[in-house]
Amino acid sequence: MAAGIIDGRQVAADMRDELKQEVSNLKDRGIVPGLGVVLVGDDPASRSYVTAKERACDEIGIFSDDHRLSADTTQEALVALVQQMNEDPKINGILVQLPLPPHIDEAEVLLAVNPDKDVDGFHPMNVGRMVVGQEAFLPCTPHGVVQLLVRSNVTLQGADVVIVGRSNIVGKPLANMLMQKSKTGNATVTVCHTHTKDMTSYTRRADILIVAVGRPSTIGADMVKEGVVVIDVGVNRVEDASKKRGYRLVGDVDFEGVKEKASLITPVPGGVGPMTITMLLHNTVESAKRR
Ligand code: GUN
Repeated sequence: MAAGIIDGRQVAADMRDELKQEVSNLKDRGIVPGLGVVLVGDDPASRSYVTAKERACDEIGIFSDDHRLSADTTQEALVALVQQMNEDPKINGILVQLPLPPHIDEAEVLLAVNPDKDVDGFHPMNVGRMVVGQEAFLPCTPHGVVQLLVRSNVTLQGADVVIVGRSNIVGKPLANMLMQKSKTGNATVTVCHTHTKDMTSYTRRADILIVAVGRPSTIGADMVKEGVVVIDVGVNRVEDASKKRGYRLVGDVDFEGVKEKASLITPVPGGVGPMTITMLLHNTVESAKRR
């Protein structure tokens, strides 16, 4: 079977059209949604993510307040900036791009964000609320994955979902979302990681396989069953002299091999990536509506 492609760009474009209308309705009531964006240092990948997030805000009418700080910014200065944004009524959402430089205590910075403006869903208050099934800001990448599955009419109820990777940003929250007793959950979730024995025995029984480890070719065709739905969260740069920029982007899954067995699969780029930013816009609009 050659897989159908889950077109993340199209799903994201549909959702952004809906959001644009909501922003327009808010503006009619005198509310302009605002996102505070903080980037510390000049990691090229983080810089391009942040630029893409700001451009997306601009496209749907969200005001973004951009702060690009040098790599030697102190913990105190960063926390002070977050606190200033907490108090600023023009700011509905705060995004501190991760990872932060090693001298900064990431947990303390995330804790400083007002949970009501935590549109990344990384504050322990929002994480806890999500785990117990209360209304919370959901982290953008896993929420985007759930939206891709739901909007592709993939059955989650009772499905065997295998997640490879247990990061705080993707694997852990996604496992929680998909096991929730809810219309967008009710799956049986297994999480594999670096200490999993015989990973193939798990990945081969997955109805839905979600891979988020940050390593190319983690999943080959021999590791999946016929008809599986595959969501590839990985974004890896691999050298490619034929490209002007010297690299190309690949996911964690061997796309060419796995697509021959899967029923549905996300490409990289053009799969999960556009959804992450879309869910950030969604959370920022939600925050402005709740204000
Ligand atoms: N770094 C990688 N993914 C994310 C994300 O979703 N939010 C933030 N703030 N940083 C990230």
